[in-house]
Amino acid sequence: MSRIAHLSDLHFGSTDPAQLEALAGILASDGIEAIVVSGDITQSGRKHEFADAARWFEALDMDVMVVPGNHDTPVYNLASRFLKPWSRYERIAGFAEEPIEERDSFVFAGLNSARRIRPSLDWSTGKLSRRQLDAIGAAYAEAEGRLRICSFHHPILGFEDGGSAGRAVLPKADEVMRTLTDAKVDVVMTGHVHKARITVVEEDGWSFILSQAGTAVSTRLRGEAASYNVLTQEGEDRLRLSTHRWGEGGFAKEVAHRFERTKAGWQEVSS
Ligand SMILES: [Fe+2]
Ligand SMILES: [Fe+2]
Repeated sequence: MSRIAHLSDLHFGSTDPAQLEALAGILASDGIEAIVVSGDITQSGRKHEFADAARWFEALDMDVMVVPGNHDTPVYNLASRFLKPWSRYERIAGFAEEPIEERDSFVFAGLNSARRIRPSLDWSTGKLSRRQLDAIGAAYAEAEGRLRICSFHHPILGFEDGGSAGRAVLPKADEVMRTLTDAKVDVVMTGHVHKARITVVEEDGWSFILSQAGTAVSTRLRGEAASYNVLTQEGEDRLRLSTHRWGEGGFAKEVAHRFERTKAGWQEVSS
């Protein structure tokens, strides 16, 4: 049985110290084997924010896989932003822009959906190019028998309350979903909107599990308290995904979903 924590939107520079400390403690004691962070490691892409993040992850001493978010390229230093947008993320924090990681029980493919500039005035929006989508299938070439996990920062589904969360959805999200189902991805981990959601996404005869994580420790709340998700492999064809929510000075499990794999992908089953 393997357990992977899905964190997102830590926003070093705007973190809650009590939440940071509590999260480090619970990750160390909860049997977590690996951590996926779906972007927005920092608030403004400042050097000291990346350094603080790097220190926190180093102290955790765990297997960490990270993709960048729209806040992880310099917000105030426009020369850096345009000339070398991911240099601080790679050099100071030590993260790869698009990591592919293979472990005994899973293969992880990370994509960078954040951009240094966008055609609209809203640079927070994201994109995945055809080249990036084509790389997804190749990443799982040797994944037979192992869980296929894919992560990028921006969401592929909107939220019922619309507004800015609606604009945040990746352009051509249906094409992205088709690519993920073609590659028989099992779990997709996204962030950005600071709202948690766990559901099944069905497209073209395959369904994958979507783990949308809230903000784990930042003070930038959008209508709900900080949270993170935990993925538990309960067997070859069984998974559990839970959301752990901040409240009363600690994180506690709020809700858990169980899933089983069929020939057509993952289906939610009652607990
Ligand atoms: Fe964020
Ligand atoms: Fe974001």
